[in-house]
Amino acid sequence: MVTIFLNRTGKERFIGHGRLKKLVEFVFSHEERSIEGKLEITLVQCDEIRKLKHEFFGIDRDTDVIAFPYGDSEPDSIWGELVLCPSYIREEALEKGIALEEEYLRVTIHGLLHLLDYNDQSLPSRKQMEERQEFLLRAFQEREVREKLMTMATEARHQAYVPASGFRVGAALEAQGAIFSGCNVENASLALTVCAERVALFKAVSEGYRVFRRLAVVSDETDLCFPCGACRQVLFEFSPDLELLCGNSLGHYQVHGLAELFPFPFRLRERSPGSREET
Ligand code: THU
Repeated sequence: MVTIFLNRTGKERFIGHGRLKKLVEFVFSHEERSIEGKLEITLVQCDEIRKLKHEFFGIDRDTDVIAFPYGDSEPDSIWGELVLCPSYIREEALEKGIALEEEYLRVTIHGLLHLLDYNDQSLPSRKQMEERQEFLLRAFQEREVREKLMTMATEARHQAYVPASGFRVGAALEAQGAIFSGCNVENASLALTVCAERVALFKAVSEGYRVFRRLAVVSDETDLCFPCGACRQVLFEFSPDLELLCGNSLGHYQVHGLAELFPFPFRLRERSPGSREET
C-alpha cells in the first residue's frame, strides 16, 4: 500500500486528497504495480520548480511536473516524489482551452508514469507514454462518472413511492452536461406505476435534453437491477447506444450496452410507407 503525503506551500487549488489517492491507486493498479512506501506530492510556485528543473536537469525553464523516483534507495522509505506547479498547469489549461481539473489529472498521471519508469526522451517513448497517459485519464474520468451515477441512483432510491411492492428503485441518467435522477412511483391502480428509469428520462426530456450517454439503475436488494422491457424500449427511443450500469444495494454494478440488452427494438420511423413486406 502506498501512502500519499501532499505538501502545499501556497493556497492553490488542486485535486483533493481523497481523489488524488484514488487516482494514484488507479494508475498503479492499471500498471500492475504495487508500491510499499511513501509517495510525496509537493505543490510549488513557478520559481521553485524552475530552480529544481535547472538543478537536476540542467534546463532553465518553468515546467508543470518533475518526478523523482527513489525506489528502495531512500532511507526514510520515500518511494518517489512528484513536484507540481499548479499555476503553470493553470496556464496550460487556459492555453489548451480545457478544464483545469482535467489538466491537473493529466499532469499528475504524467508524473506518476515517470515514477513507473516511463520516459519521454525519444519520440517513440514519448508517443507511448502519451498514449498511456491519455488512456488512463479517460478511463479514470469514466470511472468517476460511473461512480457518480451510481451514487445519485442510490440516493434517488430513497424517494421511491412503493406502497404496492416495497421494492425501491433509483436511477440516474447522464445527459450532456447534466444528470437527472428518478425513483419508481407506484399507484393504487397497479398498472399505472412508472419505473425509476422512465421517471429520470422523462424529467430530462421535459427539460429539453435529448441525448443521453449512461444510465445507472439500483434497487435496494443485493441482486443486480436490470431495466424492465418497457424501460428498454423507452430508453432506446432516445439513445440506442446508451451504457447501462445495472447495480445493487452493495454498490456493485455491471456495465451493458442497451443494444446488447435490447437487440430487436420496435422502431416506428424506420418503417417508411411501402417498405413493409407483405407476407
Ligand atoms: N421497477 C423499476 O422502477 N425499475 C425496473 O427496472 C424494474 C421495476 C419498479 C416498478 C415497481 O414499482 C417495482 O419496481 C416492482 O416492479
